[in-house]
Amino acid sequence: MSHKVYVTRIIQKPGPAALEAAGCTLTYWESADAIPREELIKNLKADTYDGLLCMLTDKIDGEVLDAAGPQLKVVSTMSVGYEHIDLEECKKRKITVTNTPNVSTDSVAELTVSLLLMTARRLKEGVRAVKAGKFTEWKPTWLCGAEITNRVVGIFGLGRIGYGVARRILPFGPKKMLYHDVVQVSFAADVGAEYRENLEDMLREVDFLCICCNLTPQTRHRINKNTLAKMKKTAIIVNSGRGGVIEHNDLCDALQNGVIAAAGLDVTEPEPLPKEHPLVALDNCVILPHMGSNTCDSRDNMSLTAGNNILNVLQSKKPMGLVA
Ligand code: DGY
Repeated sequence: MSHKVYVTRIIQKPGPAALEAAGCTLTYWESADAIPREELIKNLKADTYDGLLCMLTDKIDGEVLDAAGPQLKVVSTMSVGYEHIDLEECKKRKITVTNTPNVSTDSVAELTVSLLLMTARRLKEGVRAVKAGKFTEWKPTWLCGAEITNRVVGIFGLGRIGYGVARRILPFGPKKMLYHDVVQVSFAADVGAEYRENLEDMLREVDFLCICCNLTPQTRHRINKNTLAKMKKTAIIVNSGRGGVIEHNDLCDALQNGVIAAAGLDVTEPEPLPKEHPLVALDNCVILPHMGSNTCDSRDNMSLTAGNNILNVLQSKKPMGLVA
């Protein structure tokens, strides 16, 4: 197979190695950083590629697809999320879109639970206090957080990752597990999660809210001033889905005014959040740099899956992560 594939970043070896072993010629943006849009367009115009292996930082729209030309058959993103790809524009051009589901479920679920504990147990404040020499003596009233045991946990989006989070939370002994999603799912019974068709109903009940859903027109800014106001004052939100699910100015007001207790965000809107953003300075907000799938295992598997998806499409086989 003598296909040409453009890779928008230096990535882990397994994907590129699989493509090369199958006879593909690869061209890279030779950097660990994101390719600037104008460079992507220029580089795609300069040659004819059958496959494009991209990241969630690359906006793939009509202009990029036009630059790539009519021979482009597949856009393979090395991510689960694909909101950066214009599916309609791909469909118009008969371009297959693929993603990398399954292979980062465990890493993202582990990170979500870590962030939940980090936020609920005020670990950021504790580490900071030690660094600043403020741990002068053990005090019974200092830095008390919340435990998961006997609390109500709500999962917004019980897909693979949400289910992985629920499975990991279960051994902590929550009082109740709830979930909200577009549909009720049978596997929720494995984790004893009760369905709430209405998000607001779930928000009223939960002590911890884990946001694990995709960003869609339906979920965009679903957590906002109105929905935050329905939550308990002691509630804690953790988001490892997509930043756009939360309206960040509303979240900031809620955290500053005691509408809810704390938030842990692995994803933000915008991303990255400028360091001057008021959320960054808040003690009751833990912000991570989108680290959900940052494990060597996940990234190798994401690379391999993204590469294999391209091969499968070019060989007219069904790719593992077929989006559209
Ligand atoms: C994904 O795969 O979409 C993640 O957000 C990247 O870690």
